[in-house]
Amino acid sequence: MRVLEIDHPLVAHKLTVLRDRSTHSSVFRQLADELVTLLAYEATRNVAVAPVQIETPVTEMTGTKLSRPKPMVVPILRAGLGMLDGLTRLLPTAEVGFLGMVRNEQTLEVTTYANRLPEDLSGRQCFVLDPMLATGHTLIAACEYIHERGARDITCVTLLAAPEGLKAMQEAVDPSIDLTIVTAAIDEKLNEKGYIVPGLGDAGDRLFGVVD
Ligand code: URA
Repeated sequence: MRVLEIDHPLVAHKLTVLRDRSTHSSVFRQLADELVTLLAYEATRNVAVAPVQIETPVTEMTGTKLSRPKPMVVPILRAGLGMLDGLTRLLPTAEVGFLGMVRNEQTLEVTTYANRLPEDLSGRQCFVLDPMLATGHTLIAACEYIHERGARDITCVTLLAAPEGLKAMQEAVDPSIDLTIVTAAIDEKLNEKGYIVPGLGDAGDRLFGVVD
């Protein structure tokens, strides 16, 4: 498993505004979107490409284009939806599938309540979007799911990661998966409620407002 913590002043600036409790949902959404586009630049570094022959106005040349099969982007509902546009802005031809997962706030266990993914993901590069890698349970379950359908190349894009969650992923995810985690920061720890510290709170609530 590779872990890329993106070290860039724009990432650090936007993340700091996201962390600030006084940042309103509308600004949070906008900044999360911009931040994901910056992360997407690194997350797509190994996206599959193929040579293509083109003609410029001056001459012929061999260029490079994204190859097939199309990459698959999988936001984890609900909070991963706030990351979708930020990633597909750089990969507009990608297909989008969905996984709905919710964690029980008492046990921190994860259940899957929705799945809209192709049956066969063999040969597909998959980009899984979930803003908070906390215990790791959600992303472990998502990687297993995607792997069962045949994908071997999975990149998880997160805004924040906890060391505990990274360790859990390292131990639990099948080593035959070519797994990369791209994150804007690795924070200090999880608290007793499973929240990332210092973190940014509940990413879904911050993005979409609290639903009672
Ligand atoms: N999910 C969140 O939204 N925030 C955390 O800090 C941990 C999990």
